[in-house]
Amino acid sequence: MKKLMDDHRKMFGEFEVIDFVDESEIQGLRSQIDVDAPLEVHWSWEYGSEVEELRRLYEKGKVNQWNAELDLDWEMPVSKDEFVLNPQASMLAQACALLGKDEATQKAAAFDELAYTLSQLLHGEQAALQICGQLTNVCEKMDEKWYASSQVIDEARHVEAISKFLQRKMGTIYPVGATLKVLLDELLAAETMKKKTLGMQTLFEGTAVGIMDLMRSESRNDFFTDMIRRIEQDESRHAAFGVLMMRRVVKEAEKEEMEELEDWAFSILEALNANQQLDMLRLLGPKYDIDPENITRMFVALPNHAELNSLAFMHTVIPNLQRLGLITERTESDWRRVGLMVDQRGGQRPSSVEFHLA
Ligand SMILES: [Fe+2]
Ligand SMILES: [Fe+2]
Repeated sequence: MKKLMDDHRKMFGEFEVIDFVDESEIQGLRSQIDVDAPLEVHWSWEYGSEVEELRRLYEKGKVNQWNAELDLDWEMPVSKDEFVLNPQASMLAQACALLGKDEATQKAAAFDELAYTLSQLLHGEQAALQICGQLTNVCEKMDEKWYASSQVIDEARHVEAISKFLQRKMGTIYPVGATLKVLLDELLAAETMKKKTLGMQTLFEGTAVGIMDLMRSESRNDFFTDMIRRIEQDESRHAAFGVLMMRRVVKEAEKEEMEELEDWAFSILEALNANQQLDMLRLLGPKYDIDPENITRMFVALPNHAELNSLAFMHTVIPNLQRLGLITERTESDWRRVGLMVDQRGGQRPSSVEFHLA
């Protein structure tokens, strides 16, 4: 199976990480702002509804529109001196505590980390905005075009909300991490409608829902909770679009194509996961006397690493891939080996897109 970013791999104990250390290389990746993205544009002359479930999702999307400027109460406070999320949700805050730093430093570190994480989500939102614009073109059916175009405005609103939050409430937008930039470029340049849908709609939207759900459940700030809740609601619709589209794709796919999609899905999420926050730690760790490698080595060696690590993935994206038949016996042990997939305790299934569709 092809590994992405093969030349940036190293072993931390038994875990293979992706690590970018050369600052000029990182800058080079960021300064590549043009991406060659092949597009096949299709007309459709069928103006009636052909895919009823997509039409329903489109209707739902119209009813659930909101205005990032007017519907959020921007007067509500967000302070650097308070934990916005519970401290246990911050790797930097925990590392600071381990090093015996005072609470003010732990709070500052958690605030920085949140700004970094939200900045990465922001760059991901911009990628979603652009890929959805592509999807409006490459989809063949009118219902698909309508839905994809409605998602374009959702994604613009997410870029708006998160960038305003970072600028007004946090004071910083951090640049895109190197690993994420490589992956987003891979999705933007994906050649077929199937890969664009699988990559952005299923893998990234599904992972985003998981991350946002974790953030919301750890939030201590009312403004932040409200903003994330609204975005998450849109994202679960987007992940649902991914599943509805991919369901029809997998129904028609031959074995060989299924295996190709399964391998590609694994290679994308494996690479996303293989960075293990190293890009963030290399940027922010030194400010708090934190050694990025030590913290990461410690984290990947934890006996419950897979359980912690898989939380965001087990929420939506893994169950959806299983339902689509894109995690099979052939690859299941790989997903488990890298800590993306674990057994659910007590037979409890994570909530998923099926739930949001109800
Ligand atoms: Fe979004
Ligand atoms: Fe989205």
